[in-house]
Amino acid sequence: MKGRNPSEGKGRGFRKAILINEHLVVYGVPAIAVPILRPVEVTARVGSGAGLRILVHPATGGNPWKDADSDRFEAVRRVLNKMGLSETENMIQVECGDDLPGWSGLGSSAGFCVALTRALCESLGRPCSDEEINRIAYTGEEVFAANPSGIDNTVATYGQPVWFERGRMPAWERIRVGLPLWVVIGYSGRPARTRDEVEKVALCRDAHTDVFSGFVQEATRLARGARTALERGDGKGLGALMDQGHAMLQQLGVSNERLDEMVVFCRRQGALGAKLTGGGGGGCMLALVSDPPEGEAMAGLLEQMGYPAICVELAGGEEPS
Ligand code: PMV
Repeated sequence: MKGRNPSEGKGRGFRKAILINEHLVVYGVPAIAVPILRPVEVTARVGSGAGLRILVHPATGGNPWKDADSDRFEAVRRVLNKMGLSETENMIQVECGDDLPGWSGLGSSAGFCVALTRALCESLGRPCSDEEINRIAYTGEEVFAANPSGIDNTVATYGQPVWFERGRMPAWERIRVGLPLWVVIGYSGRPARTRDEVEKVALCRDAHTDVFSGFVQEATRLARGARTALERGDGKGLGALMDQGHAMLQQLGVSNERLDEMVVFCRRQGALGAKLTGGGGGGCMLALVSDPPEGEAMAGLLEQMGYPAICVELAGGEEPS
């Protein structure tokens, strides 16, 4: 790379909402995730010289990455390493724009790793298949999630609703979504580290193997039911299964009072179902609603309670032709 002027590359990676079975997916249980059309965007420049600079420009101000800085550097280094790049032989600049700073649980870290990989490839003029992008991004995601299932980077790469089963080949397939998926995403105001929550569940599994294998069976049933409900466009059925998914996550110890308060509130306000989404321990809650006016009203009420909230449509994506 020596002697090369930096050329700019840009990349995007989708965030995601897990409709059913976060955490259990780490252990090979099927899970369903759908992209959120608020991607993470990264600009990268690779040129001659040496050094690594990472800048984050949050749309809403502040410094949301304060606690995650060292993780972010480490993730970038792992991605660079996987691509055969090094900050001792190249001058690398990374800029990340973010409109949902710190809202953990929405796959922002995987979105970042995918966007970064795409941006680096573009900067280098190096063609890279989605499969390769996904594989490289996974190595960065390992920093944030300890033992990532791969579901986040997969949705971040392909931007498709997925049925994901770790250990199966291929691990994911596109799932058909038979209804508009309007959801309210409420932020607990507490950023959480996914890997801490993943480790918590690992301890729970080691301490209660029988109970955990019961969860695995139950969660598999929930996933199958959720897939059928999604495909048939049965929002009520899907919502009921999301409620059951949340109950299981509570028992696994990854919910908290703020998430539970939002979940109960949204159900009382008429949500079809509500659950935490992603790693938990803070982060975000997801409530399935019937239409945008209901969702906007619910998000407004959550805001009044002090929880930042948005109403968005999860992307069903284009049907395969
Ligand atoms: O907190 P997030 O958005 O990184 O989501 C984590 C999802 C988990 O199932 C808890 C971990 C994983 O790798 O699947």
